[in-house]
Formats: sequence, C-alpha cells, structure tokens
Amino acid sequence: MRGPRLHLFVCANRREGSPLGPGCGERGDAAYDALKAEVGARGLVARVWVTKTHCLGICPPQGATVARYPSSDPIRAGLAPAEAVALLDEPEAPATPSWSDIERELTAIEELQTKKVLDLARRLRPGLTLEDIQNPHDFPELDDPDWHYADGILTGVKTVTTALRAQRNRG
Ligand code: FES
Repeated sequence: MRGPRLHLFVCANRREGSPLGPGCGERGDAAYDALKAEVGARGLVARVWVTKTHCLGICPPQGATVARYPSSDPIRAGLAPAEAVALLDEPEAPATPSWSDIERELTAIEELQTKKVLDLARRLRPGLTLEDIQNPHDFPELDDPDWHYADGILTGVKTVTTALRAQRNRG
C-alpha cells in the first residue's frame, strides 16, 4: 500500500499542572477537526492523512502545533483552525531531493530541535545554557518527561544526520 501524498500531524496533547503549560489540547482538537472536515470535503482522504498526536515539543501558548510532511518548513506552531487548513494549499517539497537538500533540511531540523530543547529547559529553569543541558542530571528541574522526549528527538536527529553524512561520503 502506498503512503499519503501529504501527512499532517496535529498535536492535541493535554497536561495538567506542568510548568510547560496545559498543552495544545482543545485547540489541537479544533485544528484536527477542521483539517479532517476540509480533507473530506475536497475528496482527499486517500492522499492526505491527518493524524492526532502528542506533544511536538513547542507547546505554543495559543493555537496548536501541526507538523506537515513533506515540507521544507515542517513544524508550525500557534495555528488557529483556518491556518491549519491553509497548510493543505502549500506547494509540495521536491520528490527527489539532492544530498545538499537533505543536508540543509537535516541541519534546519537539528537547529530547530536544539532551540526547542533549550527553550523547554529554560522554561523549567531560566538561564540554562546549551552546555548545561548536556548534563541534565546536574539540574533536577530537567527531570521532566516532555523535556526528555524533546531531547531524545534531538539525539535521534543527530544520529540520522551523522549516518546520512557517512553514507554521502561513501557514495
Ligand atoms: S503540547 Fe502541543 S506541541 Fe507541546
């Protein structure tokens, strides 16, 4: 079975009593419902998939976070339902990217994820530096599941980047 032409992941994460805020929650539900309705109305159900997900690591104070793949700018935060629906009309990324396209994309993802991890850390303990968060066990405030999740994604991104660079250098 072939995958979708476009896949949107909509955060509807809810959390209570966290210093990171309540999560996208109902705002995510509203964006998800609007996207599902629009995809259905356009007859795109087989080609455009919309999936509800947990935290995508940005946790905007307003709107919801939506990840769009493929895209050169995949993670969007703070979207109202109409803005989420507008993602359906953005141009698609090239089908066969070059190595430099891939490297540029991975570098951008790594920078974005690094910023997310640092921003989340600073919401848990203001003033932390990039060097500080290399040693999270020194800071009890970082014993937070959402922070560890975001940091784990960053580790994964770095691993993929390293593996692809090695592959390119072999080729
Ligand atoms: S709760 Fe939605 S991005 Fe974190």
